Amino acid sequence: MCDKKILCIGLVCLDIINVVEKYPEEDTDSRCQSQRWQRGGNASNSCTVLSLLGAPCAFMGSLAPGPVADYIVSDFSKRGVDISGVAWQQQGETPCACCVVCPGSGSRTVVLSDTNLPDATAGDFSKVDLSQYKWIHWEGRNAGEQVKMIQQVALYNSLLPEQQKITVSVEIEKTREPLYQLFCQGDVVFVSKDVAMHFGFSSAQTALRGLYSRVKEGAVLICAWAEKGADAMGPDRVVVHSDAFPPKALVDTLGAGDTFNAAVIFTLSNGGSLQEALTFGCQVAGSKCGVHGYDGIV
Ligand code: ADP
Ligand code: FRU
Repeated sequence: MCDKKILCIGLVCLDIINVVEKYPEEDTDSRCQSQRWQRGGNASNSCTVLSLLGAPCAFMGSLAPGPVADYIVSDFSKRGVDISGVAWQQQGETPCACCVVCPGSGSRTVVLSDTNLPDATAGDFSKVDLSQYKWIHWEGRNAGEQVKMIQQVALYNSLLPEQQKITVSVEIEKTREPLYQLFCQGDVVFVSKDVAMHFGFSSAQTALRGLYSRVKEGAVLICAWAEKGADAMGPDRVVVHSDAFPPKALVDTLGAGDTFNAAVIFTLSNGGSLQEALTFGCQVAGSKCGVHGYDGIV
């Protein structure tokens, strides 16, 4: 029972990361400090972090056979992430992102090509053996289908005693109207600073107060705010806060949010309190900002 896995559903892509001293001017031709390939995508990055934390985990999302997918599959396997639930597509290309990471400013700029690969569907999800999982996390993407997947989990849960139910978390990161239907779907809901600002809030705390009415009864709403740390609100409506843990030197903030989500899920899925989860989330995310990639964050 303790060996049950955490499943993360969402994007996997190839990140081609250029580390630059200074963010380039448009229409210039410059050299970067270093360049590397890395497996990316929010759900995929969270799996990397969960596996570094020692949690058995699995990824579900779409891939198209080819050299990019070969690279991604081999990296998942190096990290010990189960990808038996990947939806292999006959049409479309595996997404790829050009990323510019600037240690000087702490910025990470991403241009993602994610145009024609179909997302995993509720039909794909119905093939998943839910008894393997204690927690399923959805990165908000094809929200309509994702709601149907979550309904399958609700049905599965309805037949089980409390302690065997699967916990559902969702991340609403992008400012896209269809994603907002996910607010009422999670036991734990991560809302980004971007979305909070889009709704007119200028702090995590005001965002939680303003958006909490959208989540379902008993749910927890969590909002990370970069160097300001993160806040959360549960059914008692008390705001819990953790400051950020800035690294000695800011190196690479790409995937900080995905790292935070993974560390929060890790803590809550092991019975930790909301305060412990936020603090650990900020610690691990802060430590991620101090290294390139993910090795050495724990
Ligand atoms: P992202 O933009 O990757 O989604 P967020 O801005 O939501 O990431 O930050 C997630 C968490 O990462 C924050 O709560 C914080 O703990 C940590 N973090 C992000 N940026 C910094 C930073 N510049 N310094 C320290 N911690 C940071
Ligand atoms: C980081 C990340 C990258 C990816 C981009 C996609 O959060 O998942 O790995 O290129 O965001 O939006």
